[in-house]
Amino acid sequence: MERTLILCKPDCVQRRLVGRVLGRFEDKGLNIIAIKMLQVTPELAREHYAEHVDKPFYPELEGFITGAPVVAAVIEGLEAIRVVREMLGATNGLKAAAGTIRGDFSSSQQKNLAHASDSAESAEREIGLYFSADDICGYEPTISPWLR
Ligand code: CMP
Repeated sequence: MERTLILCKPDCVQRRLVGRVLGRFEDKGLNIIAIKMLQVTPELAREHYAEHVDKPFYPELEGFITGAPVVAAVIEGLEAIRVVREMLGATNGLKAAAGTIRGDFSSSQQKNLAHASDSAESAEREIGLYFSADDICGYEPTISPWLR
């Protein structure tokens, strides 16, 4: 079992797509084991996007991600890190394959609806930025035998 962080970005919240986006992961058989709505601060944005802070697009990215509330969630499941990234699709919504979340709902490189951790190390670090151990409620759904 793996855990990954998903961040429904401000465009996802403003477009009222949070339920549909998170619903895709539930439909797949993944578990939401923590969830919260928050406004990302510039400090948190710099920590979250540490690898992008020096890139030319970072100021615009920070303005976007801090500009309106987001919904953060921890998702658990078999190979969840890879599965969730593949379900999101390519970063640029215009290039993301049809059938992926970005491919179906986004036409933007920046306003691409959701962020997901890209490795086990990133997942652990990013989950720790948004949640404490007490916030996480892992559980075994009673339908598990029908899912895997
Ligand atoms: P995300 O998966 O959250 O990881 C970094 C984010 O930076 C990415 O999604 C996009 O929202 C944004 N991003 C990446 N490349 C660019 C770019 N060239 N211009 C603007 N935003 C970008």
